[in-house]
Amino acid sequence: MVTSKAKGKPSASAIKRLLTSKKLTTANQLNSLLEDQKLEVEGHQYTLRCTRDLAPTTLDRVFDLFKENMREMYERSKWGYNETKLKNEYRDKDSRFLIVTEDGNDNLCGFCHFQFVEEDEHRAVAYCLDIQISKSSQGRGLGRWILEKLFEIGKKAEMEAVMLTCFKFNEPALRFYRDRQGLSRFETDENCPSVCDSSAPLSYDYVILSKKIQ
Ligand SMILES: CC(C)(COP(=O)(O)OP(=O)(O)OC[C@H]1O[C@@H](n2cnc3c(N)ncnc32)[C@H](O)[C@@H]1OP(=O)(O)O)[C@@H](O)C(=O)NCCC(=O)NCCS
Repeated sequence: MVTSKAKGKPSASAIKRLLTSKKLTTANQLNSLLEDQKLEVEGHQYTLRCTRDLAPTTLDRVFDLFKENMREMYERSKWGYNETKLKNEYRDKDSRFLIVTEDGNDNLCGFCHFQFVEEDEHRAVAYCLDIQISKSSQGRGLGRWILEKLFEIGKKAEMEAVMLTCFKFNEPALRFYRDRQGLSRFETDENCPSVCDSSAPLSYDYVILSKKIQ
C-alpha cells in the first residue's frame, strides 16, 4: 500500500503542528495585546497593565509576592522549592505579565505570568504559569478580573484554550478555578497526567486544568 507519507504528502497531524507553530510565532511577536484596564472595587481603583518587559525592581516585587503566597506549597510539593529555577522561569523571553496595582499607591496587588505555548504537539494555548493576588487584596474580584483579561488576550492571539497547573492540595485555588459558573470555570484537561497516566494517577500532586477559548 502506498501511504501518504510515501508520496511525500504531509499527514493531517503534521499540518496541524505546522499551523500551531505558526500561530505561536505570530502570537509571540504581538507587542500590544491589551490596553491598560481600570477597575473600581469598594472605592479602590485598580489598574491592570499587560507587559512583557518587567523592570528588575518590578520583577523582584512580583517574585516576592509569588514567594509569600506559594513558598510553603512548593516546599510541600514533589517539585520542591528551587528559587533559582523559579526565578529563571519569570525571566524567560516569552514570558508575559498582567500586573495589577492600586491607583494612588505603588502597591502590587496581583499579577499573572503567562506564555503562549504548544501543548501536546498540536494545541496553541495561553498557559497561565502563575496567578497571585496579595493576601490583603484577595476576595475582591481581582483574580477573576485577571483571568477574564487573560481570556481576552488568548482570543486576540488566536489561542485555543487557557491552561494552568494547580497543586491538588491548593484547595482554595481549585475552588476558585472550578466551582464558579461563568468565565473562569476550568475542567481537568484530557492530558492531565493525574487522569491519563492510569499506571500511577495518585503519584502526581498537581492537576492540569483548561478551558477552551470560545
Ligand atoms: C486563588 C486566587 C488567585 C483567587 O483570586 P481572588 O482575587 O482572591 O478571587 P476573586 O475575588 O476574584 O474571586 C472570584 C470568584 O472565585 C470565588 N473564590 C475565590 N476564592 C475562593 C475560595 N477560596 N473558595 C471558593 N471560591 C473562591 C469567589 O467567591 C468569586 O466567585 P464569584 O465570581 O462567583 O463571585 C487568590 O486568592 C490567590 O492569589 N491565592 C493565593 C495564591 C494561589 O493559590 N494562586 C493560585 C496558584 S495555582
